[in-house]
Amino acid sequence: MTTSPEPSGPHASAWRQADATGAEPAERGGLRVLAVSGSLRRGSTNTALLRAAAELAPPGTTVELLDGLGELPHFDADLEALDAPPPTVAALRRRVEEADALLLATPEYNGSIPGALKNAVDWLSRPRGAAALAGKPVAVVGASPGQYGAMWAQGDLRRVLGVAGARVIGDELPVARVSALLDEDGALVDEAARGRIAAQLRLLVDGATALDVAA
Ligand SMILES: Cc1cc2nc3c(=O)[nH]c(=O)nc-3n(C[C@H](O)[C@H](O)[C@H](O)COP(=O)(O)O)c2cc1C
Repeated sequence: MTTSPEPSGPHASAWRQADATGAEPAERGGLRVLAVSGSLRRGSTNTALLRAAAELAPPGTTVELLDGLGELPHFDADLEALDAPPPTVAALRRRVEEADALLLATPEYNGSIPGALKNAVDWLSRPRGAAALAGKPVAVVGASPGQYGAMWAQGDLRRVLGVAGARVIGDELPVARVSALLDEDGALVDEAARGRIAAQLRLLVDGATALDVAA
């Protein structure tokens, strides 16, 4: 499980570290958001939403993109029962455990969640009682080329996350007709859409902070 290569371009520095202090998140006590795209393809519009979120993160918040969902084995209780889980599963669990919150972007495939994303949720819902997703604040966004903005997939993902024990924050955030909102490099440049992504991230950060204070 690795992170994506650093992007080039004017917003590249925001990718891994969303503020300009130069300090690591742990040093400055900042909040770490792990961003997970349900699309595996390089030119994903859903991943573009997460890149925008990294650029728009509030001060002190770091947004990092998780890569490698496609390398996870299909969930298999026999694999789960091994003394050591598959390395990609162990790495995924660690990344989620280390994060204060998750931001998931899902495309819609045949009216629901892509298989790779559901597979990741299934792994992260285990083992029962010590699942990486248990109590984790999570917000969901989604993009589609059509008029609905992956609403069904987002609804399903939110439901599945709830069953898996996550704390789902906010509502669906459908980004419809997404192609018109990107520049030639595939970056989300539409100001209204960027504002909605920023608001969703702020909601997640505020929710995660409140839960942390209450704990
Ligand atoms: C197998 C498959 C099924 C799809 N089903 C839907 C669908 O039910 N609803 C929808 O709005 N788009 C559907 N699409 C189109 C996706 O929304 C589109 O490919 C989108 O760009 C994928 O997101 P990405 O750009 O992040 O990869 C489907 C695409 C594929 C490959």
